Amino acid sequence: MKVIHLSVECFPVAKVGGLADVLGALPKYQRKLGVDASVVMPWYNRKFTQENKFDHIASGAFYQGSELLHYEILKEADDLLGFPLYLIRIPGKLDREEVYCYPDESEQWLSFQHAFLHWLKADGIQPDLINCHDHHVGLVPFLLKYSYEFQQFSHVKTLFTVHNGQYQGWMNWSKGILLPSFDTWRWGLLDWDGVINPMAAAVKCCDAFSTVSDGYLKELFIEANGLQSLFASESQKGYGIVNGIDTDYWNPQLDTLIDSNYNLNTVEKGKSQNKKSLCDQYKLDPSLPLMSFIGRFAIEKGADLLAEIIDQLLGNIKSKMSIFILGSGDQDIQVALQQVLEKYPKQLAVYFGYNESLAHQVYAATDLLLMPSRVEPCGLNQLYALQYGTIPVVRGIGGLKDTVIDVKDTGGYGIVFPEAHVEDAVQGVIRTLEIVNQADLLSEIRQREMHLDFSWNKSAQKYLDLYTKLLK
Ligand code: GLC
Repeated sequence: MKVIHLSVECFPVAKVGGLADVLGALPKYQRKLGVDASVVMPWYNRKFTQENKFDHIASGAFYQGSELLHYEILKEADDLLGFPLYLIRIPGKLDREEVYCYPDESEQWLSFQHAFLHWLKADGIQPDLINCHDHHVGLVPFLLKYSYEFQQFSHVKTLFTVHNGQYQGWMNWSKGILLPSFDTWRWGLLDWDGVINPMAAAVKCCDAFSTVSDGYLKELFIEANGLQSLFASESQKGYGIVNGIDTDYWNPQLDTLIDSNYNLNTVEKGKSQNKKSLCDQYKLDPSLPLMSFIGRFAIEKGADLLAEIIDQLLGNIKSKMSIFILGSGDQDIQVALQQVLEKYPKQLAVYFGYNESLAHQVYAATDLLLMPSRVEPCGLNQLYALQYGTIPVVRGIGGLKDTVIDVKDTGGYGIVFPEAHVEDAVQGVIRTLEIVNQADLLSEIRQREMHLDFSWNKSAQKYLDLYTKLLK
């Protein structure tokens, strides 16, 4: 079975969020199951593309509106990722340093999708199924079915995976002329509320859509940033498949990015050594419980609550603990964090930016990880935390609710709080500190966590079952 994953992020080539981690791992696990899985993504001017070898395998050109665009297909030459990786380079469009935030983003992703289809046609490539990830590649199911240029692919099955329904790729109808020409009677399939909505188009035109947890699938029927009625009416073709993690890379026993490796039998010693080295480096007291937050500073992630949560914990309640924050994003959130940092310099450290290896060290070093998300389609950080024997303290929503069982329930190993509010999060942290301060209970919980299996094995099989069903 030949499956092509289409995405604009893939670890380690270009990562902004969890989307990249999924793309960097799922195809590898699928290949173990005999699926001929590969990834096609845009070319970025980044470390990975500069430092590794690529073979030029194809090139071509097409018109985007009146602009002639030339593309080049590059294949990663050394099988570094465990699956074939193809990059599409288009001078002036797909040759930038960052993944997002350019004013002509719509044109960028349109050119990516068009070039991809153009290449399939020119080289006679016949996938059985195309798995499109998020709105950036949401027009592909429509184009396969209704564009004149790519009609020969109308039988190719499509699975559209929603990693985040908040962002939908909206573009004004004036951009319609940039698409490969299509059956204009079908324009309504592209439209939602008077604009081209690639996420809506994908849900309407795909053979099936999946979300990255079952809980999130159900939430989308109720609230999906305007698309809830669409998700609900298409629910018969919706599936929830929870993400896994790449345990070759996220594994405290083998991890080359942490100071001291450890396993189930050495977790107490291992974690305290990692904590000591992180705390020494950031001038925190290693004898105190250490909490962390890792991720994008976005409202969706509840990062706007962090400063007040910290102020409550360290100021009002005077909790004996230290806090480590690692992330970047919203400017106002950064400013608020900077202010609390000045207030509690001995108990708080903040690393502003993206730092993959520091993230590994933080998972290994901390006792608890806070995720006060408002929306969380799956969430991978809680899974990384569990893998490293760190207690996840999560708001019970989406994938967080599906993957974390509260300690008050049988077999529980985490803390789940109801709402993305400061008070709920603070209460959750206080409950966790009670566990962290009882050595026996803490090690029992850590044992439970590290016995869990959130590797991709199970979920990769679920994707395969779904592909098989669609291809019947
Ligand atoms: C998005 C979601 C996150 C999910 C990830 C990978 O980043 O916000 O919850 O884990 O995609 O699917």
